[in-house]
Amino acid sequence: MEARSIQRNKSQTLPVELPAVDVRAVTRRFAPGAPPALDGISLQIAAGEVHGVLGLSGAGKTTLLRCIARLEIPDSGKILIAGSDWTALTPSELRRERGKMGIVFQQLHLLSSRTVAANVSLPLELNGTPRSSITSRVIELLEWFDIADKAKSYPAQLSGGQRQRVALARALATNPRVLLADEPTSALDPETRASVLNTLRSIREQFGITILIITHDLHSAAAICDRITVLDAGRIAESGPARQILDSPASEITKRLLSHDVSPQNRAPVLHSTHFEEIGQP
Ligand SMILES: Nc1ncnc2c1ncn2[C@@H]1O[C@H](COP(=O)(O)OP(=O)(O)O)[C@@H](O)[C@H]1O
Ligand SMILES: [Mg+2]
Repeated sequence: MEARSIQRNKSQTLPVELPAVDVRAVTRRFAPGAPPALDGISLQIAAGEVHGVLGLSGAGKTTLLRCIARLEIPDSGKILIAGSDWTALTPSELRRERGKMGIVFQQLHLLSSRTVAANVSLPLELNGTPRSSITSRVIELLEWFDIADKAKSYPAQLSGGQRQRVALARALATNPRVLLADEPTSALDPETRASVLNTLRSIREQFGITILIITHDLHSAAAICDRITVLDAGRIAESGPARQILDSPASEITKRLLSHDVSPQNRAPVLHSTHFEEIGQP
């Protein structure tokens, strides 16, 4: 019997999509003589991929995120976002490009004096979106994140999970291509953690964007990430498909992360400055 198969037309070349995030030999040292926070990191994240960055406290995860977001400038190496060299952008080019990247900081940085709706509208106000479009976009986001009833509440009146949703809604306000999330689940109880992970999964399905998630929880990462990179003292210990790293970890540090040999006090965030301060929010 004739085998039936769908022949692919070999002459039809698929467009080669540039990596959403292309980190090339990035080094960042905070003080002369100090060990580098990032030591020659090269990492490519494909468009539409959910990528987890794992490592113990101090491994360089947040510094990597801050370099990708260009809140930190590498001492050497470069970072391309969808092919554009972000390390070379002038301040005015950077202001134009900012909306392509959404960021959720570990401490969320919600503005306590602003309502939920006004927090979500902030990136749109900063990039000059007309008022009428801001209102409809904010309503759409709040509805999508199931917090429309909290529009007029203040961050202090929300639960941890609700605050996390506001931060995600704000990060997605400008329709970014890339979402960076620093330890999005670390401060949450297990139930809320699961709900935020589900939300991140839905974001990927709904918005089709590239997501980079920093975490030290390999099990959570494996549940939602396509690929994982494990950092150790500013270097890549290993990088590969999430399943492979979970099932057969190659590095000692990954085995340690897997065995939950990470004490809570080892997870304390180091907070140096805030995104919105840096992009001109009073
Ligand atoms: N602004 C900074 N000034 C000085 N040292 C810093 C600064 N940011 C990070 N570091 C140092 O760089 C290393 C990596 O930190 P970080 O990227 O915050 O790690 P992680 O997020 O994995 O916990 C740590 O040793 C940290 O103390
Ligand atoms: Mg960190």
